[in-house]
Amino acid sequence: MFRTSIIVLLIVLISACRTPPRFDPGDVGARYTGVLSEKAAVVSAHPEASRVGLEILRQGGNAVDAAVAVQMALAVTYPVAGNIGGGGFMVLRLKNGTTHTLDFRETAPAEAHRDMYLDKEGKVIPRLSLDGHLAVGVPGTVDGCVMAHRRFGKLKWAQLIEPSVQLARQGFAITEKQAKRINENIENFKKFNTDNDYFQSAVIAGEQLVQEDLANTLALIRDKGRAGFYEGSVAEQFVSEMQRGNGIIGLEDLKNYSSKWREALVGQYKDYKIISMPPPSSGGVALCQILNLLEDYPIKDWGFHTPATVHAMTEVERLVYADRATHLGDPDFWEVPVAGLLDVDYLKRRKALINMDAATRSDLINAGQPKGTEGEQTTHFSIVDQEGNAVSVTTTLNAAYGSKTFVSGAGFLLNNEMDDFSAKPGVPNYYGLIGGEANAIAPGKRMLSSMTPTIVEKDGELFMVVGSPGGSTIITSVAQTILNVVEHGLSMGESVNANRFHHQWRPDTLFIEEGTFDRKTRKRLKKLGHYVVERDPIGRVDAILVRENGELEGGADYRGDDTALGF
Ligand code: GLY
Repeated sequence: MFRTSIIVLLIVLISACRTPPRFDPGDVGARYTGVLSEKAAVVSAHPEASRVGLEILRQGGNAVDAAVAVQMALAVTYPVAGNIGGGGFMVLRLKNGTTHTLDFRETAPAEAHRDMYLDKEGKVIPRLSLDGHLAVGVPGTVDGCVMAHRRFGKLKWAQLIEPSVQLARQGFAITEKQAKRINENIENFKKFNTDNDYFQSAVIAGEQLVQEDLANTLALIRDKGRAGFYEGSVAEQFVSEMQRGNGIIGLEDLKNYSSKWREALVGQYKDYKIISMPPPSSGGVALCQILNLLEDYPIKDWGFHTPATVHAMTEVERLVYADRATHLGDPDFWEVPVAGLLDVDYLKRRKALINMDAATRSDLINAGQPKGTEGEQTTHFSIVDQEGNAVSVTTTLNAAYGSKTFVSGAGFLLNNEMDDFSAKPGVPNYYGLIGGEANAIAPGKRMLSSMTPTIVEKDGELFMVVGSPGGSTIITSVAQTILNVVEHGLSMGESVNANRFHHQWRPDTLFIEEGTFDRKTRKRLKKLGHYVVERDPIGRVDAILVRENGELEGGADYRGDDTALGF
């Protein structure tokens, strides 16, 4: 059962009070720092999840233990994106400097095929890859948590899951932002669910959200590990749900799901080593391309959000997203020319296309030909433990509340990650991203992602843990967050809360958050030929910076209920 009972709690007010101001370096006296701590820090999208993570660290758990616990707690407290019905990526840097990445991205089910979202005339059927049962990819989150814990965890598995069982059973107070978001989706929840009473009527901030079915599912995961989700009663409930709504995921798809350890994608920006996620995320490759292409521009001298800085970054982003559309896909199905895309000479040739005096039209830009080629809603958390291990995790259901479909009786939401495939070459997906053959649908294939969980080193030492939700805007949000600190000298708190902008080649639009750039800058950007459009908030970055004196600074994004804690 999934019931709500009204208990108005002060937590809503408290969280409103601690919201940091938006940062504009032009505001005299606006400087501030995030949450400082000496030994360990957790920054996530929900205060309860950050609390659970910190508690695990206090019990002697390491950053991987805390990551598993936070992920499960987000599945309870942050239904818009926190999940067990989705997937994600983990980037890990151990205290001895070794790095690892874990890919627990969803896969296309065995019955999927490249034209599954097209009508008889070959046109994309609107929203079929976004809403309801057919939009769902085979989830990877639970398997990913099990794999990460088996290899690096210190505490017992059950100890990591138990806090989330309790949170689901006892409930937690819905925040104001959450209530608004859930209520905006009530009609969708009614439409895309077959047989349950989850979120079928409006909620109010302060209501206690109790999720008994989800608590039972989490208890099975606690007791049986991966088998508690991919086999047995939960798997059967999952498949029954699919069958009621014309979904195609079967028991074998669930049983066969497997996460993969992959070598970290490593790049360099000046004195900083960038450790990020390789394909099937485009995030690491694109982030390293962006930073490499920007390296020789005097961004520091040009300054924060000045026309020259924004113009250079926009032109670079245009080039990088054009490459993404053609060259990036699941490396187990498509030869992704990672080395070619990051090759210095290749990037020099790409950079030569940039004109600092005028915006390039996107329709005049295509993907390059690197060597080796022929051809929003997600959530992020960052953790540093008392030993110096760091974990950067981004996971997703794709759009807000994923497919909007719950598994009846099991209480969890299913992703709509199939939309991250290219349903048809040249036809934009939910995020306006275009793809081709590299990202065509095939059974067992992982859909291309933009998630960019990243760890930055300086002089061989841990420097920053960073990542963001936001679909296609994830990559540029992470790039801006890093540059805000290393080039513009912002604190972690300021950097994650600074206004952001984004360009992704197509549409040929420079998206900016409301109130971004002063009048003069906007005017100059327009004169350079940029089509500037204000949009809703971009990204939601949760990051940790190791300051010069060794203190940790947790930066939690004001755009959500995100919370930094530490000790
Ligand atoms: N679902 C968003 C992404 O993976 O990029």
